[in-house]
Amino acid sequence: MIGRFDKQTRVVILTGAGISAESGIQTFRASDGLWENHRIEDVATPFAWQRNPELVWGFYQDRRRQLLDVEPNAAHEALVELEQYLDEFLLITQNVDNLHSRAGSEKLIHMHGELEKLRCEECGVVVTAMDEEYLGETFVGCHQCHNERLRPHIVWFHEMPLRMREIDVAVGDCDVFIAVGTSGHVYPAAGLLGLAQACGAHCIGINLDPPQNVDLFDEFHRGKAGEILPEMVRKWTGRP
Ligand code: APR
Repeated sequence: MIGRFDKQTRVVILTGAGISAESGIQTFRASDGLWENHRIEDVATPFAWQRNPELVWGFYQDRRRQLLDVEPNAAHEALVELEQYLDEFLLITQNVDNLHSRAGSEKLIHMHGELEKLRCEECGVVVTAMDEEYLGETFVGCHQCHNERLRPHIVWFHEMPLRMREIDVAVGDCDVFIAVGTSGHVYPAAGLLGLAQACGAHCIGINLDPPQNVDLFDEFHRGKAGEILPEMVRKWTGRP
């Protein structure tokens, strides 16, 4: 088990839906998860958006409106502590909620996009759209071009995650790789653990249940992120 980090320790974190569970946001693959109540093919692919944009838009507007009712939890806050302690730090999240940035995380990559943002498929503009007027059931038009229907700025299945080159470089160079609250089901995110291992990083897992790739971790801590992570960050930083 690794002890205290030097300030120069290069740490990369990968988070998944489990880190937001204690804030009240559903995960995807639990028994009451998002994919239990919706078919991925109906709401989370580019084909679904072409086939039934009203259904897709309604699914994401519900999730966007939910952001107004949830708050970051102790796990999000612990990662801000760790970021502020270390010189070299990167937080990669699969989550599309805004809880990491609301907790204060700055060195942050949203590899699967962000619920707060909408994107124009005609001119490519990406806008933050969380004002009341953008959270209703009607589509939002583009202010830059004639397009009447901005899409969620979300990476759907069959689409490439964002900023993968930066992510691969950071994971390949890090000393410690920590995965929190992810089931290890979805690639390329799930492959980052193998990359970190192959490049010699010490790999730590924190998860409610053992994820698919649990055997690749050098240490695995089973339990709730909101309980385990604050304690681990106190140990890693030497701060009370
Ligand atoms: N603390 C820690 N881990 C938790 C907690 C918690 N409080 N609650 C749940 N978990 C764990 C579950 O045991 C599960 O392994 O979080 C994991 C969540 O797994 P998924 O629901 O599969 O979510 P995630 O791994 O983030 O999914 C990856 O799949 O659907 C796509 O794009 C979507 O980004 C998402 C990707």
